[in-house]
Amino acid sequence: MSKYQIFGGKKLNGTLEIDACKNSILPIIAGSVLCKGVVKLNNCPLYSDVIKMCDILKTLGSVIDYYQNTKTLILDNTNLEYQFISNELTKDIRASIFTLGPMLARFKKAKISYPGGCQIGQRGISTHINSFEQLGVEVLQQHGYMYCKCKNINQKEIYLDIPSVGATENLMMFMCSSFGKFKIKNAAKEPEIVDLQNFLNKMGAKISGAGTDTITIIGVEKFSEVEYTPLADRIITGTMLIAGAITGGNITLKNCNPNHVGTLIDILKKSGCKISKTKNSIHLICNKKLKSFGKIETLPYPGFATDLQSQITTLACICSGVSLIKENIFECRFRYVPELIKMGAKIKVNGNIAIVEGKDELFGAEVYAPDLRGGVALVLAGLIAKGYTTVNEIKYIERGYYKLEEQLSKLGADIQKID
Ligand code: EPZ
Repeated sequence: MSKYQIFGGKKLNGTLEIDACKNSILPIIAGSVLCKGVVKLNNCPLYSDVIKMCDILKTLGSVIDYYQNTKTLILDNTNLEYQFISNELTKDIRASIFTLGPMLARFKKAKISYPGGCQIGQRGISTHINSFEQLGVEVLQQHGYMYCKCKNINQKEIYLDIPSVGATENLMMFMCSSFGKFKIKNAAKEPEIVDLQNFLNKMGAKISGAGTDTITIIGVEKFSEVEYTPLADRIITGTMLIAGAITGGNITLKNCNPNHVGTLIDILKKSGCKISKTKNSIHLICNKKLKSFGKIETLPYPGFATDLQSQITTLACICSGVSLIKENIFECRFRYVPELIKMGAKIKVNGNIAIVEGKDELFGAEVYAPDLRGGVALVLAGLIAKGYTTVNEIKYIERGYYKLEEQLSKLGADIQKID
C-alpha cells in the first residue's frame, strides 16, 4: 500500500497554481450525461474520485479521453444507454449518487446502488430520495439497489430538510431537463453549486439563484456541447494556506478565489499570519509563533468549511494557547485525532468538540490516514514534526489531492511517495 515519508522542519516557500475543484468536477461529470454530445473539461487533475466517476459514465457508454499535459477531460456522451450502476462502482465514492438525477433526466429511469465515500458519519441519502419522490419519481429500494422511475412529474417546489450540497446538485440536474418551472428552497449555497449552475447554463439550461437558498429552474429539452473550466479547489487552497502557516513559510497561491476561503483567511490572520490577496491569488507569510484562534465551528458555506476542520485542528496543535473546534456537519469527523496524539498532540475529543492544547513541537511517527481530509491533516503534522513521519493509507488522500507529494516538494517540503 502506498505511503508518504516526510522529514519535518522545512519551511514552505514559493508559488503554487491551484487545480480545479474535485467537488465541482464530480457533479459536472454527472451533469454531462444530459448532453447527447461532447463535453470538454479543462484543468481537471485525475483525482482518484474523478477516475471512479468516469468509470460510472463509461458503464453508460461514455467515450472518455484525457490529455495529461493540459489536464483536459473529454467526455463523448452521444451514445449513452440505460445501464444499472452496481455497488462495485458506487461503494467508494459519495458522488456516485449525483448520477441519479441526470440518469432520470436522460433515461426516465435508473437502477443504482448506494453511495460510499469517506467514513465521516452516517451520510444518509434521505434528502435526495424524499425530494425525488415529492417530484413524482417512484423509488423502490430493494436488494441493495434503488429502482427509480419517472412517473408524472407534478410538484414543482422542493424544500430541503437539510441544505445538502449533493441533494441540491442532484435536483438541479434533474429539474433543468424536466418540463415546467421548479424551485429548490433551503438549497445549499456552496461555490460548487454556483459552478454547476454556470456549467449547466452554458449547456443551455435555465437556472438562477445558485449561491442563495432559493434556486429557480425552467426545464429545457436540449443541451449543447460545451467546453468548461471548473472553479479552483477552495479546500486545496485552504489546505495549502495552512501548510504555509504551520511551517512558518512564505507562499503564494495562484489561480484561486480568495473569497471562497474568506473565513479561513480571517482565522489565520487572527493567529498571526500576514496575508494579502488579489482577485485570483493569495500571499501568506508566517514568521512568528502562532497563537490560538480561540473557538471555531464548521457550518454550511459561507461558514468555516467542514472539509478544512482536520487541517485547522493540526494547526491548533502547535499554536500557543487552547483552541476549540466544533464539528457541526458530520457526526464522526475526528478519526484522525488518535493519529495526531501518536505524534505528541494534546487533544481531547468529546462528542463533536475537540479541545486542543498547543504544544511547542510534534514528533514524527507511523500514522494511518482514516479518510481524505483527516489524512491530509496528518501530512501537515508531518511537515513540522521532529524527524520522520510515515503516513500510510494515502489512497484516501489521493481521492482529492493530485500528486500532493510533488506539489509540497515544489514548495520545499521533504516528502516522498513510497509505492
Ligand atoms: C459534499 O458532500 C462534499 N462531497 C463533501 O466533501 C462536503 O464535506 C459536504 O458536501 C459538505 O460541504 C462532494 O461534493 C463529493 P451534504 P455531501 O449532503 O453532498 C447529511 C470531501 O472531503 N445528509 O451537504 O454528501 C450528511 O450525512 C467531502 O471532499 C443526510 O443526512 O454533503 C452530512 O452529515 C467530504 N441525508 C450533512 O447532511 C442526505 O440525504 C451534509 O451533507 C444528505 C445529507
